[in-house]
Amino acid sequence: MKLIIANWKAYVATVKEAERLAKKVAQIKIKKGISVVLCPPFVFLDAVKKSMGRTVRLGAQDVFWKESGPYTGAITADMLKGLSVRTVIIGHSERRQHFLESDDIIRKKVDIALAEGFDVIICVGEQAREDAKAVPKLVGEQVRAALAGISKGALARITIAYEPIWAIGTGVSDTPDDALSAAIYIRKVVGDMFGATQANMLKVLYGGSVDSHTIRDFILQEGIDGVLVGRASTDKEEFTKMLSSL
Ligand code: PGA
Repeated sequence: MKLIIANWKAYVATVKEAERLAKKVAQIKIKKGISVVLCPPFVFLDAVKKSMGRTVRLGAQDVFWKESGPYTGAITADMLKGLSVRTVIIGHSERRQHFLESDDIIRKKVDIALAEGFDVIICVGEQAREDAKAVPKLVGEQVRAALAGISKGALARITIAYEPIWAIGTGVSDTPDDALSAAIYIRKVVGDMFGATQANMLKVLYGGSVDSHTIRDFILQEGIDGVLVGRASTDKEEFTKMLSSL
């Protein structure tokens, strides 16, 4: 099964727009073997759930790391469960950068998300293209920090999205070969932590400027289990083209 995570980020501003987009996605014929998860902004989750039909699933872009209590502005796991969210994205580079999320916070979020039964997409990736040689070290550290101490059983609900930061929102995606090398490396790190069987089962996605021209190059690679799509997933025509091209 290949996974397409549509991360709407903060590109969609009104509930009407969110509904229109979800309804459009509901009309797309999605091929067998492809699973699509829509991750709208929190405030549109309910509207999207009602408009998106049954061919796609609902995800959230983040989750708070405490259960409940005096945490102004927080969106908790229980709130998300109440809205039929089954998947959460954790540790996106934009959360790390603009919301100052550390590996430690990300680890706590992974914990609560797993404990509450979510499927978890953990994002990792290096800052600059020149960093190519630093990729294994940096990405390895992020993966190890996010997964330290979790059970082998819980690992089955984890997907890692390799997202080089320089490729996000820039229109310049990574090469499929380099994305595949990163995926292989991530599986190696997970293999060292949990064993080869677990590493082979792990899903690894690529994210960063994927569009209708490039989606096949990534998704058809055997070692890449899908893509995380940002901006292009909020463009009705473009997203339709992407899904129809598979
Ligand atoms: P983008 O975002 O598709 O807009 O580059 C991808 C991501 O955040 O991974």
